[in-house]
Amino acid sequence: MIKDQNISFLEWHLDAGADALLEEKAQNSLKNSSNAQVKVNRNQENNDFVKEEINYPNIKEYNNLEELKIAIQSFDRCNIKKTAKNLVFGSGKVGSKLMLIGEAPGEEEDISGEPFVGAAGKLLNKMLNSIGINRSETYITNIIPWRPPGNRKPSIDEIEAFKPFVYRHIELVYPKILVLVGGSAASAILQNDLGITRLRGKWFKFQEIDTLPIFHPAYLLRQPSQKKQAWEDLLKIKDKIEKL
Ligand code: URA
Repeated sequence: MIKDQNISFLEWHLDAGADALLEEKAQNSLKNSSNAQVKVNRNQENNDFVKEEINYPNIKEYNNLEELKIAIQSFDRCNIKKTAKNLVFGSGKVGSKLMLIGEAPGEEEDISGEPFVGAAGKLLNKMLNSIGINRSETYITNIIPWRPPGNRKPSIDEIEAFKPFVYRHIELVYPKILVLVGGSAASAILQNDLGITRLRGKWFKFQEIDTLPIFHPAYLLRQPSQKKQAWEDLLKIKDKIEKL
């Protein structure tokens, strides 16, 4: 009986398009790693020392994008690497004024190893062109460098696992303006879960960088009526670039 149920459960998922069975929880990326740092603080009230383990990589040791790429490629503590075909690291030049960060690669990005080359990427190119920017003048990456199976949304654990790498990526590209493409990138970088509808079109500072969340082009393909608001946000980017 239980066996029949298990088979039905698997059949149901196969019919729904599941092609892999992976645990979404990333292993704590840096726990027990030689890079875990122990910070010792003095407790204000009783003057005791409080030991607090910070599981954070010594990410500053990656001095350029090539080193960062190798580090991400060899980072094995997140399961989505197992089902992805290629690492989608990022594309563009160090020092680009504009850096865009999306969510995660889809099927076409997984095949090509380049971010935003599918339907959403084509719309993103058009959006940039409409304000006089060629994609080649920008730097584009994602908060997750491997395609999640079946294009599912990345889990919170997966996002947390890659966050230190994304932060270093931003530091190394050193843009003047950061555009967070879609809700996952916005909430991950701004540490704010208000949702993209509330966050979009408002300027934030991320490490002194002017940062604007915008709607994801994949969302605009599904909801073309939101393009008017996306256009308003694009004009804000254009205006900011003109003032640089
Ligand atoms: N959607 C994203 O967020 N990133 C890509 O690279 C492609 C589609």
